[in-house]
Amino acid sequence: MTQQQTERIDGKAIAAEVLEICRQRCAEFKGRGGPPSLAVVRVGEDPASRVYVRGKLRAAAKVGIQASEHHLEATATQQEVEATVRALAADDAVDGILVQLPLPRHLHEGAILGLVPTDKDVDGFGVESLGALVAGLPGLRACTPAGVMTLLDHAFAARGETLRGKRALVIGRSRIVGKPMALLLLAADATVTIAHSKSADLAAEVGRADVVVAAAGVPHLVRGEWLAPGAVVIDVGIHRRDDGSLCGDVDTDSAEGIAAAITPVPGGVGPMTIATLMRNTVEAAVRRRGESADV
Ligand code: GUN
Repeated sequence: MTQQQTERIDGKAIAAEVLEICRQRCAEFKGRGGPPSLAVVRVGEDPASRVYVRGKLRAAAKVGIQASEHHLEATATQQEVEATVRALAADDAVDGILVQLPLPRHLHEGAILGLVPTDKDVDGFGVESLGALVAGLPGLRACTPAGVMTLLDHAFAARGETLRGKRALVIGRSRIVGKPMALLLLAADATVTIAHSKSADLAAEVGRADVVVAAAGVPHLVRGEWLAPGAVVIDVGIHRRDDGSLCGDVDTDSAEGIAAAITPVPGGVGPMTIATLMRNTVEAAVRRRGESADV
């Protein structure tokens, strides 16, 4: 087997390009009803959610999106959270609504997400947004999978290739990453397999794939030795280890010299998720205000 240098896919740099386009598009909103606006609903004190929301608000401020955080106590009732989302849904000045997950366990997530109008569903988690993806219709796409597609497009374009006909393995079948990820890869003409916690032989599935998207939520689940030489690997996982450092779903060190390219953790998928949220918010504002959506 020939050893090859494994390229790091620079999510931060690619996200910066997307954010710059968003910034330019936001500037075009001056005098046209104000900048695009994003409302973030956060319930409780989940420390990771607090960090993620801070990152989203910071990115919004940088590109010129007017963002607001609507924080409720961990003890908030279903009725209180629903009232908050209903008010934002009815507010014509709000272009995008994001309910940060996970919600405290006593709340009914589906009922709350169901109150986000499809034209403001910048997270792409709603039933109609997901249905549009299944049906191949236009709509707002879930931020993490859409961001991964941007990373893959960059990685393949750099090789003079595309995803067409490639064997893609998605590990994980969640509503917010695995399932929409598989559909986006399918729309790009990849041959798609979805593996999950009950899959019989994950190593064999990984070994057959040209593209691996690891979104299982299990630290270092994917071993580098399992990879086919030359595979492109996207690591969606992010986990904090006991020593405070971060790691993903892929054991990156053991992938060195086997994978053609891999996303680092941190600095890979995370920044792209946030940049894609900004792009979705601008797109929602353009669509809601009746102009063409070519952001
Ligand atoms: N929790 C973890 N990731 C996400 C995300 O992309 N959006 C929301 N709303 N919550 C999350």
